[in-house]
Order: sequence, then structure tokens, then C-alpha cells
Amino acid sequence: MPQRAIEAIAEFYHLIQYLGPFSGQVNDLQESSALRTKEAIASELKVPTATITLTEDVTVGCNIAMWGMDWRGGDRMLLTDCEHPGIVATAKEISKRFDVEVSTCGVMATLNQGNPIEVIASAVQPTTRLVILSHILWNTGQVLPLAEIVKACKSVNSNVKILVDAAQSVGILPLNLIDEGLTSMPLRVINGGADQKAWVVYMSVRRREKICIPPLLVGGA
Ligand SMILES: Cc1ncc(COP(=O)(O)O)c(C=O)c1O
Repeated sequence: MPQRAIEAIAEFYHLIQYLGPFSGQVNDLQESSALRTKEAIASELKVPTATITLTEDVTVGCNIAMWGMDWRGGDRMLLTDCEHPGIVATAKEISKRFDVEVSTCGVMATLNQGNPIEVIASAVQPTTRLVILSHILWNTGQVLPLAEIVKACKSVNSNVKILVDAAQSVGILPLNLIDEGLTSMPLRVINGGADQKAWVVYMSVRRREKICIPPLLVGGA
């Protein structure tokens, strides 16, 4: 982590201790800094601030989008064979709890030949409710053409939602979240140095309005 980021975190903790950790003043300060962070990220990504949520990491961002669907028994979820292990584990858990069928399509084999758009879209079925793919594949480095994949999947099933794991791509590739028609995109914002990160989930305003995850734990100071 860059020295400036370490110092900023330490300064904020000192200020919290000085003002009183559970004071109204600290609460306001935390809320206003979180809002400023979201505004800065939203302006960089050219999306409304209301579409940005700060998260602990990319896996949590994916979990929010995945558990936020109102799954019904018999629904299907489609993953590529290059998704990160945390996302695969979440898909398995959702499958167990809600009787959702998880299938996998093979994009790894399209690294040097073949067409990932066709591979993914041909695996979409009428009952597929969520397609999960990564913008840059973590294991092979292949870049998937998002806009074309979204268009091809929606032409098979217009109701399908697309979750793009952008852990590897933000700050490296240009993104046009709104025009590309993505439903949700957990991402790691890298700004300046390689390790200066913020974890974020982008969720389209329409999608966000429908997300409702009952809390597992309630209460606490
Ligand atoms: C594509 C992809 N998804 C998810 C993750 C997990 O990220 P995190 O550790 O922020 O949850 C990684 C980690 O590098 C990744 O490359």
C-alpha cells in the first residue's frame, strides 16, 4: 500500500480516537467520507453515485449481487469455467439452498481459438436468470468482449441478468458500464499505485431497487 494511503488511514483512526469513536461527530465524518469516496469513484466510472456501494472485497461484491436475486427452485445460473473460486463456492451454496441449477460453459478453450461470445450465449437457456463472467480472466488473462456477450445473451433470453467480475480490469481497461448494459459489476478500483485499492460493487439503479437481502445479524453498537 502506498505510504500516503497508510498515513491517511492512520490519521483518520487518530481523529476518531480524539473525537470519540461512537460520537455523532465521528458518525457524520464516516458517512461524509464514504460519500466522497463513492462520488470520486462514480465520477471516474461515469455512473451515478447511487449505483456505487463500498464493499470489503470483490468476493463480497459478487455475493451481494448473487444473493440479492429472488431465486426460485428450478432457476439456472451460468458461470464460465474461469470464475474465481470464491464466486464458484457462492454459486454452489445458492444452488444447495434454493435448488438452483448451476452450469458451466468453457471459455478457457477460447483463449487462442474459438469464440467466447458463442460459447457463453449458446449455454443460456430460457430458465437461466444469471450469467456470471469475468472481464479479464484471472487464470489466463483473456479479455472478454462484454458488450457483445451481453447482447448475445439477451438475444437468447431477454430477462437474463449479467454479473461481471471486474476484479482484474478496472483501471486497466476502459469501461462503459451503462452502455454495455451490465446489471452488476463488483470491481477493485486501482488508483495510482498497484496496491491503492477500494472495493466496490456497481449495480444499475433498476437492479439496485430490486435487491433485498435480509440481514443475518441484527443489532450491535
Ligand atoms: C477475477 C477475480 N475475482 C475475484 C477475486 C477475489 O478478489 P477479492 O480477494 O478482492 O475478493 C480475484 C482475486 O484476485 C480475481 O482475480
